[in-house]
Amino acid sequence: MSQLTFDEAAARSLEAIYLSPDVVAQRARVIDLLAPRAGEQILDIGVGPGLLAHDIARLVGPAGRMVGLDNAPAMVAAAERRLADLPQASVRQGDAGGLDLPDEAFDAAVATQVYEYVPDIKQALVELHRVLRPGGRALILDTDWRSLVWHASDPARMDRVLACWDGHLADPHLPAKLGPLLRQAGFEVRRVEIVPMLSPRWQSVSYAGGMMRTIHDYARTNADRFGLDADEVVAWRRDQDELIARDEFFFSVNRYAFLATR
Ligand SMILES: C[S@@+](CC[C@H](N)C(=O)[O-])C[C@H]1O[C@@H](n2cnc3c(N)ncnc32)[C@H](O)[C@@H]1O
Repeated sequence: MSQLTFDEAAARSLEAIYLSPDVVAQRARVIDLLAPRAGEQILDIGVGPGLLAHDIARLVGPAGRMVGLDNAPAMVAAAERRLADLPQASVRQGDAGGLDLPDEAFDAAVATQVYEYVPDIKQALVELHRVLRPGGRALILDTDWRSLVWHASDPARMDRVLACWDGHLADPHLPAKLGPLLRQAGFEVRRVEIVPMLSPRWQSVSYAGGMMRTIHDYARTNADRFGLDADEVVAWRRDQDELIARDEFFFSVNRYAFLATR
């Protein structure tokens, strides 16, 4: 595994992807499922640039509390900037695998696109359970990269590039195992939903557009680690440009949202 570095450049690039219509729609669905109420205390684990935390903080209002946590200093700084106008919100540096927070402190918690990066998922879920009050809600969302359908002229080359991309995560197939893992940690799983990232045609301002650039850069930097030829990555990207020019681009991947209660 060679993880993505969540530095300042990554924070800027993530923000651009997160403001694309697909990810805006995902946040709306997460809010619907979590249903934050005024006065609640809510934790956002792996808060990233803080877009979801900002929405939640406004919904819990001044009588509530929104705590964002992230292990990357650049992400903590980005979230702090975004949440600066909301006194009910605060951000701290910390690790999902060992939360420096009291027992039963939160009514609800979210972790979107985070647990797939965490090496010891069982420990992270034990921690999540510990900081929720009895009956508290957890909303977890992760991508299963096995659900990806991405058209290419050379499918074997696409598979090699994607095998390299899989290496940026602790578990690129976490959602398929998340139900039993949540139950083992003491949760009751209430609902599971697909949140698709679908681009049936090329649109530069989209999740797929952002991923094309991110995967290209990651694969070029990490090619030799994964036995991939850097020229292959260039050829893969050129093929995508040619498909786009012919209006033959297609990309679809599923994220899975789990709503569970303690
Ligand atoms: C792909 S981003 C998702 C950000 C945000 N949750 C969202 O959906 O907009 C993953 C975030 O998880 C953070 N992260 C990864 N591993 C972590 C860990 N073990 N503990 C806390 N944060 C972590 C990263 O620094 C990054 O900000």
